[in-house]
Amino acid sequence: MAIEIEQPSVGLSKVAVSETHGEDSPYFAGWKAYDENPYHESTNQSGVIQMGLAENQVSFDLLEKYLEEHSEASSWGKGAPGFKENALFQDYHGLKSFRQAMANFMEQIRGGRAKFDPDRIVLTAGATAANELLTFILADPGDALLVPTPYYPGFDRDLRWRTGVKIVPIHCDSSNNFQVTPEALEAAYSEAESMNLKVRGVLITNPSNPLGATIQRSTLEEILNFVTRKNIHLVSDEIYSGSTFSSSEFISIAEILESNSYKNSERVHIVYSLSKDLGLPGFRVGTIYSYNDKVVTTARRMSSFTLISSQTQHLLACMLSNKEFTENYIKTNRERLRKRYDMIIKGLKNAGIQCLEGNAGLFCWMNLSPLLEEQTREGELALWKIILNEVRLNISPGSSCHCSEPGWFRVCFANMSEQTLEIALERIHKFMEQRRRN
Ligand SMILES: Cc1ncc(COP(=O)(O)O)c(C=O)c1O
Repeated sequence: MAIEIEQPSVGLSKVAVSETHGEDSPYFAGWKAYDENPYHESTNQSGVIQMGLAENQVSFDLLEKYLEEHSEASSWGKGAPGFKENALFQDYHGLKSFRQAMANFMEQIRGGRAKFDPDRIVLTAGATAANELLTFILADPGDALLVPTPYYPGFDRDLRWRTGVKIVPIHCDSSNNFQVTPEALEAAYSEAESMNLKVRGVLITNPSNPLGATIQRSTLEEILNFVTRKNIHLVSDEIYSGSTFSSSEFISIAEILESNSYKNSERVHIVYSLSKDLGLPGFRVGTIYSYNDKVVTTARRMSSFTLISSQTQHLLACMLSNKEFTENYIKTNRERLRKRYDMIIKGLKNAGIQCLEGNAGLFCWMNLSPLLEEQTREGELALWKIILNEVRLNISPGSSCHCSEPGWFRVCFANMSEQTLEIALERIHKFMEQRRRN
């Protein structure tokens, strides 16, 4: 802060001073280390390579080509809607054309196996806002949501900080590739009860961040049975649903509800955003899709706090209504992500490192437990520090995702060029060789 101002001790709200913002985790510390010394292929070759950021940059050329060829999407000239009309638009229902295009896109990603009604789509500023907004609606301060581990570190902030809601982990481990089991669900529920917390719902991420894998149909059915039995909600964050390596590899909860004629669907809510599949986190485009009428109405009212700009809605309504573009984008993006995934898995294997078998996402889940001096969170963080400071790679330790088994790390591969990924793999290879020699 350039202008130094004396800071007398004037009080702030409980939310402002609470520690539940979640930002003191190594997940964010790693980002800071990268920001202080970022790798650059020509100006800073010894800098830190950022592998802790789930960003999709592999298909930017396709977005740029579309914009070059379709100036009506981003301009207000002939044939485009009026500038004044768009500038004055602030209806929290959002542009009808955009909601329709979004519903179609969500169907397309699921290979047409699930239908989405544009009137059930609530617009939010990204999945961050969608997850928080749903938590506000489903739970009171002091209540609990059950979340399978390992989970996206941002949930500690999004679900807890301003809502006052608690997360109780559903512990998953490598014995069954980190899939949720009925026993783990019951154990988490009992744990919440033993802490006198009222459980309001289960929140899953499918495909999972950080595992980079989809959830099996039988597991989804078990989770749906569980929430029905306990009379609680199910939130399915499907932000990576278009980033599976093939469309058939992903089963949405929407598909399961549809095949059950929407039985028990009033407790189910889907979160989606364009941050990952289209690689547009800066546009802040998210949605809640709920099968519960009351949730839709309340979420829409609450979305007033975090709407999407009408200009962005207009641009994306044009882009996503163009079938030729979306079909080519989804297909090409999937192929490129798979190629990157194969490249990193092969490189890590050559270095002697195993990963969980993945089929989706912008990252892989890497097992470095054989390298730990002690099989504890401390041992994992000690190794993480060496990799950050000496190998100069920022990867995310599993403990920042609340993984109960030490030694796992999330490694992102789509936020950099292939050349940078090769350099990252060379660094890992060298590091492993050194380890073996010592
Ligand atoms: C599972 C999950 N949910 C939500 C988010 C936040 O996404 P957005 O940029 O749309 O707010 C992320 C981002 O990494 C994520 O991985």
